[in-house]
Amino acid sequence: MDSSEYEFIAGEGALGALDEILMDPLAADGWCVTDQLFDPVLIAELYQEVRQRHDLLPAKVGRHQSHRSHADIRRDKTGWLDGETAAQQQYLARMDTLRERMNRALYLGLQQFEAHFARFDQGDFYRTHLDALKGQRNRVVTSVTYLNSEWQAQWGGELVMYDGSGLEVTRVLPRAGVTVLFLSEEFPHQVLPALTSRYSIAGWFRVNSGLG
Ligand code: OGA
Ligand code: MN
Repeated sequence: MDSSEYEFIAGEGALGALDEILMDPLAADGWCVTDQLFDPVLIAELYQEVRQRHDLLPAKVGRHQSHRSHADIRRDKTGWLDGETAAQQQYLARMDTLRERMNRALYLGLQQFEAHFARFDQGDFYRTHLDALKGQRNRVVTSVTYLNSEWQAQWGGELVMYDGSGLEVTRVLPRAGVTVLFLSEEFPHQVLPALTSRYSIAGWFRVNSGLG
């Protein structure tokens, strides 16, 4: 992808222009990657915010994985977005518009969105995992938006996605403003260790299954 060809598409109404680059691949393949969802100014504000947050804590893993210590599985430090800053509100509003758009285009019936800031320090990883268990229909679509203002390929830290049979589907460098969306139950994925701190917002569009 030649980034010079792309520009952030401003304005809420313009989200319609994202059909071709988001909804079509999501419907066809179950995943998509774009750098056109967020204003670069907002990404820079969120980057500044996450670097100033000193309350990010080692993330937990589900009880189904309790046979392994969680530091063997994931080493990211996370903190929920609660809309306490203008930048978070803008981010959450954009994601809510996207939620409605996905419901209209893909009939997913998504009801909620939750998101956390994540920091992977040098050497941190998240081993191959699924964000939702099949049939639970709780977390339906995963989003990850990357915040580092600069990211060089040799720093590593890629998101690697696999299909159901373990074949690699894609690899994404955590470059500022890039957002990945994928069906949470369908794509095992991992985060490779990086040479420097890696910042992102991971989010989940949910339905209320009643299963928790
Ligand atoms: C997660 C996750 C991917 C990434 O938080 O569940 O898989 O690229 N994150 O940060
Ligand atoms: Mn994940």
